[in-house]
Amino acid sequence: MDLDLSHPSVDDLRLAARKRIPKFAFEYLDSATGRELGLKTNRRALDSIGFLPNVLCGRQDIQLKTSLLGKEYNLPFGIAPVGMSGLFWAGAERKLAQAAVSHNIPYSLSSVAVASPEDVAPHIGQNGWFQHYPVTSPDLRRKMLTRVKSAGFHTLIVTLDVPEESRRERQRRANLTVPPKADLRTLTEMARRPAWCLAHLCEGIVPRMRFFDDYIPQRGRESFTQAGALIRGNPDWQYLQELRKEWDGHLIAKGVMRPEDAKRMMDVGVDCVWVSNHSARQLEAAPAAIEQLPKIRDSVGPDFPLIFDSGVAWGLDIMRGLAKGADFVMLGRAFQYAVAAFGAKGVDHLINTLKADIVANMSQIGASELDQIPLHLTDRH
Ligand SMILES: Cc1cc2nc3c(=O)[nH]c(=O)nc-3n(C[C@H](O)[C@H](O)[C@H](O)COP(=O)(O)O)c2cc1C
Repeated sequence: MDLDLSHPSVDDLRLAARKRIPKFAFEYLDSATGRELGLKTNRRALDSIGFLPNVLCGRQDIQLKTSLLGKEYNLPFGIAPVGMSGLFWAGAERKLAQAAVSHNIPYSLSSVAVASPEDVAPHIGQNGWFQHYPVTSPDLRRKMLTRVKSAGFHTLIVTLDVPEESRRERQRRANLTVPPKADLRTLTEMARRPAWCLAHLCEGIVPRMRFFDDYIPQRGRESFTQAGALIRGNPDWQYLQELRKEWDGHLIAKGVMRPEDAKRMMDVGVDCVWVSNHSARQLEAAPAAIEQLPKIRDSVGPDFPLIFDSGVAWGLDIMRGLAKGADFVMLGRAFQYAVAAFGAKGVDHLINTLKADIVANMSQIGASELDQIPLHLTDRH
């Protein structure tokens, strides 16, 4: 199958994933908080950012390479951390990591992924970032940091926008447990997805949070509740300061929406701020993340590294993020839809599609370098 003809957009991959994985897994991946209006808020704000076409620009040699935190990447986008990724497709974390290396983009491993840092490290080389949720005790934090470091990760993302569990109604109705429980409803949903079951059987891994194996019992709803209790460290500024002292690699603060917070994080010694509203999964009333991005850029100045995510589904959205002040753009759901729909081939296809969309749109506005993109911004209401 030529995926470029059959599945040219993220929406196509989403629909294919929905048909291929059990409902409890899809609802966890796809849902947002509350009435899910935040998804539309993000989408509308992205769509309102326009670029002015530019003609007679001659032949252009479009360059997409960019550097972040001292490393050069081939493309200005990467893979955001997503919990339980290996539930969407068996071995998803490994497949995503391998694709990240072959395209030279970053891959972020969630601390609540199915694969552990030790599972992923051999596949990710220098392209891996590890995501940390603030934990309840400094002792546990130090143990986790040491473990992540010895596995070979040098860049740490600390996610700050999950002080408590958010209410995702669709996810609740789907009643996901870890590992999936063997009741009639779950077994029926799995039986409808034989390829998904077979892939898990071949991989030989029961989907559970392997990094947390040493810290919590892994049983049904209990494991979610216990992991939740452990990572709800109610972090404050002191937590961030201590983390900064304890982690000697690059430190990225994720889930930041206020300009004054970003400025203060920069003063605390954080190396990079990740502007995100968790793609509407945490606070439904939050403004679009893309609207906060230029305000945050103003507060930290032109040179401080900024990452953006939330609602990105096209190469054009990546350009919008770059135009509004980001150095780098990340995607969460899109990569999981791709791996769930078509495994490694789907991830490869998504990266190529996003790249092709950026190239096509940069040529429309006559930009051959990424830093020329903002010059062609225009409002579009
Ligand atoms: C199913 C799911 C699980 C997620 N798990 C995590 C996580 O473990 N840690 C984290 O920092 N962010 C997590 N996120 C948020 C993503 O890292 C990212 O901020 C968001 O998905 C970006 O928006 P997008 O999905 O519209 O691209 C998760 C998102 C989804 C959809």
